[in-house]
Amino acid sequence: MNKVIGFDVYGTLVDPLEMGQHLQQLIGDKALEFAQLWHDKKVEYAFRRGLMQQYADFAVCTQQALQYCLTVYNLTLTASAQQQLLAKFSQLSAFGDVIVGLALLRNQGHTLVAFSNGPEIAVRNLMHNAGVLPQLHDVISVDDLQTFKPNPAVYHYLINRTQTDPTHCWMVSSNPWDVIGAKAAGLNTAWIQRDSKKVFDPWGIEPDLTVSNLIELSEQLEAR
Ligand code: LAC
Repeated sequence: MNKVIGFDVYGTLVDPLEMGQHLQQLIGDKALEFAQLWHDKKVEYAFRRGLMQQYADFAVCTQQALQYCLTVYNLTLTASAQQQLLAKFSQLSAFGDVIVGLALLRNQGHTLVAFSNGPEIAVRNLMHNAGVLPQLHDVISVDDLQTFKPNPAVYHYLINRTQTDPTHCWMVSSNPWDVIGAKAAGLNTAWIQRDSKKVFDPWGIEPDLTVSNLIELSEQLEAR
């Protein structure tokens, strides 16, 4: 049976920690640690803005999280250097399995959608630059609702926008909080466990599938 499959973007299709490469000059061997804090903080800011109903788009969360990290690491960057760094987010590359995995899923007849906390234009641009856009049928952003994952309303929006039945709608993410959010909202879910050491939150809400990459996902979905 053909499915509509929503893919999380940051951490699932592209690696936000690749930003560490652009932080080397600024902070040397702490670059990866900085990139991780930056990512975690921006996700936290989105959660908090969603709960507080103080929406500002994901680019604002990213920029404010950068300022937070610069202060933590006692660094200063000019406004234009910050803009240059932020612009690198549009050039993250896709994980090695992504283009092949999406092509396999597309050939199986599924409808593939990037579904992200990022604004649509930014995500389209990123997907284009990473060579992923031709494999996708659409890009859908929570920005349309002015709130963030894991608000159940955004997962219902994915169902409504794609005019699918929840039983045929899947959310695929490497982020356990995203998988749990989508599952709790009634979608089917696959957790992409890109790192074998990554732990899934013990909430008693489990993914329908756990795989290590999108090629494996296509195999598992075909076998079902
Ligand atoms: C996304 C990030 C938060 O929604 O992973 O794409």
